[in-house]
Amino acid sequence: MRQSFLSAEAFLDIRRPVDPVRCFRPFAASRAVQWFHDHFSGSLIYAVKANMDKEVISTIASAGVSRFDVASLTEVDLLYHHVSEATLFYMNPVKSRAHIRAAYFDYGVRRFSVDHIEEVEKILEVTEEAKDLTLFVRLHCNDAGSVLPLGKKYGAEGEMAVELLQFVRAKAERLGVTFHVGSQALQPQRYGEAICHAAELVRRAGVVAELLNVGGGFPVYYKPGDPQDLGLYPEFIETALNEMPMVHDGEVFAEPGRALSAEVESLIVRVDARRGNELFINDGGYGVLFDAANCDWVFPVRLIGDEGRADNFVPFHFWGPTCDAADQMKGPFLLPDGIAEGDYIEIHKTGAYGNVMASGFNGFGIYEEIHLEDEVMFSNYADVSTAGGLQKIS
Ligand SMILES: Cc1ncc(COP(=O)(O)O)c(C=O)c1O
Repeated sequence: MRQSFLSAEAFLDIRRPVDPVRCFRPFAASRAVQWFHDHFSGSLIYAVKANMDKEVISTIASAGVSRFDVASLTEVDLLYHHVSEATLFYMNPVKSRAHIRAAYFDYGVRRFSVDHIEEVEKILEVTEEAKDLTLFVRLHCNDAGSVLPLGKKYGAEGEMAVELLQFVRAKAERLGVTFHVGSQALQPQRYGEAICHAAELVRRAGVVAELLNVGGGFPVYYKPGDPQDLGLYPEFIETALNEMPMVHDGEVFAEPGRALSAEVESLIVRVDARRGNELFINDGGYGVLFDAANCDWVFPVRLIGDEGRADNFVPFHFWGPTCDAADQMKGPFLLPDGIAEGDYIEIHKTGAYGNVMASGFNGFGIYEEIHLEDEVMFSNYADVSTAGGLQKIS
């Protein structure tokens, strides 16, 4: 059971932890789901890969999400046992035969994605020519403007895509179309373009789809310059939907991971040493801060308990606790000039692709876990003016 505190300050009043602390704010996941329900006319699928924590999954499910995108048999098993009545979408375009077999026969999974005819043949063989499959054709799309493009790896293109759509139409009970505009997609028009491009391929194939899944990619407001208002994203999607040849009762889905989970967690780290403008902290690139080290992610940070300190804010970069020189987070992270060994920093929005990437390298990767009741540092889903995370949620 995670103990609850009003804020990181309240927690540090009674504890001075040596290890980093994962702080959970379940209300942030419910709020993100609610935003999609209010602004997006389709249904939500939660991409479990972003955050597999059981409480996070339960919170998202309680907020009204019953569909989950799973990438592996481990995720299938987790959802199967953890959320009763979950509908699973196995959206990894390349899967092993053993995993397809177990997903279909042992867990009742009927929805899969494919981006090659060979994968369709594999699924048909393994499922003994099943007649109840929903197959989503993953199409290539323009993912420019996303921070983490995925198009190099997956997505059928051109004539191959047309043939694949026709093949799936002939073999599957239901045809779906999907794409991914890249994670942290900063340009909302990419969704509209991807739908129009998919519509053109579907028309060329002379087929009609039952389902359209516009994928994940919805961005999180991490730093100035990132989209704060997500409103344009559903607008571009809804406008382009008219173009898509679909059956009259067709279903539309979005499959966010980051956008539902990022604000759910923050991380309290301790400064173990300061060398000029370099801070040695107790988590890093082999931990929850994987993206800060490997993708130069600049998470919002604040010195805990800095109220009343009149220091200038200056740029720092961080070193993680392992002996690896790659365990470096360039930032820059703006923090008060007077920061010193023994101080604690709260790093916000670490809920997406954080702990799921953490390893036990060098014996680190041990986290205490608590709940916090105060606000996140700026949010996509609420007007949070505090920079210090001290505003209590009513
Ligand atoms: C198939 C699929 N769907 C959804 C997502 C979630 O993307 P995001 O977290 O950017 O919303 C991913 C991320 O890799 C993905 O591969």
